[in-house]
Amino acid sequence: MVGATLLPASALLMTQGKAQADELHEGKRHKGNGTLSKGDADLLRFAAWAEVVESDLWTQYNELGGATQPNDGPTNVGNPAYILALQNLDSDMPQYITDNTDDELSHAAFLNAYLMSHGAEPVNLDAFRTLTGSTAKGAQKIGRLTNLLNLNVDTSWYTRYRSEENPDFGATFAQAVNPPNGIKNEPAIPLNDTDTPPGQSQPVPPITEAEKRMQAIANTAGFHFAFIEQGGSSLYPTLALKASSEEVLRILLSIGGVEIDHFSLWHDKAGNAVSSPLAPLTDPETGVTFADLNAPPTELTQTNKILPEPCDFINEEGLPPCSVIRPTLTRFGGAVATVKAFTDDGLFGPIDGLNGQPQSFIDFAMKLANAADNARRDLGED
Ligand SMILES: [Fe+2]
Ligand SMILES: [Fe+2]
Repeated sequence: MVGATLLPASALLMTQGKAQADELHEGKRHKGNGTLSKGDADLLRFAAWAEVVESDLWTQYNELGGATQPNDGPTNVGNPAYILALQNLDSDMPQYITDNTDDELSHAAFLNAYLMSHGAEPVNLDAFRTLTGSTAKGAQKIGRLTNLLNLNVDTSWYTRYRSEENPDFGATFAQAVNPPNGIKNEPAIPLNDTDTPPGQSQPVPPITEAEKRMQAIANTAGFHFAFIEQGGSSLYPTLALKASSEEVLRILLSIGGVEIDHFSLWHDKAGNAVSSPLAPLTDPETGVTFADLNAPPTELTQTNKILPEPCDFINEEGLPPCSVIRPTLTRFGGAVATVKAFTDDGLFGPIDGLNGQPQSFIDFAMKLANAADNARRDLGED
């Protein structure tokens, strides 16, 4: 009897859904909570792709460097020496890593669920979980989407946010770490227990070659965390500017705000890798050097200048400088730019190479990215 009484209401909802879908099909306005316009679905689908990728890399960081007894998750084996090296950046690093991982998993799950609840295709990259990860103590032996074993970390975000110039006007920025190239061919997680014994101590500053190696790996992670999250800080505003429905705009602004929160946190922690007493430090294997950026402190290097310096905004001339997220133009911070930045980072390994994703992975990412970048805000005001 209950089913029978509910039937007319659900039938009515289905009819309304069909009417809304027809209206969208005809290119009409869409402001409500019903079906998604193609453009809005494209925006959320690329965001979901980015969050699935972020979830994979953060899960690897969490297995090795996250809290071993998190207050709101399962216990974690962890890699004791890696955790100690991360704690040389901040004693709370493991909990922050665990919480950042939770956030990304929630973003991916929410975006995919929202897409599906609106009849739109979600993002599933499971077929690409084929890369080999770390074999060090703490790492699960499972296929990975991302490769954290050999990264090129662009550290120009550090000088960009200390500069009065804005990349949206074409400004470029120097590498903060290991100039002129940035962090090159460096692992961000321990590779195996021979390279970096999991039981070793991590004094400040490190003394033995293996201690220096592990600290350089943890420092690379510290800069990589901020690199990934500054990317999200720019991506979400570029996507939000194209949203048509108020609810999709709300989703993009609300998740985007958390990406900025992540970036701000990691920006602060990364500074401890490039200041005394941890810096200067050189990885004995790769030669990547983390100099003391406070020796001497400058406008573009001083480690505690972590809040965005006011910069050019909207117009290069004529308006006063403004403290803003940058870039927020599609060309520099949009979806295609994000796929390119992640690929250049080495996050997907050598494409079509050893322990790298195939070209088909990049092709799929670029298809979603182009669709998102080409979405346009449509309020139906005609
Ligand atoms: Fe996220
Ligand atoms: Fe994030």
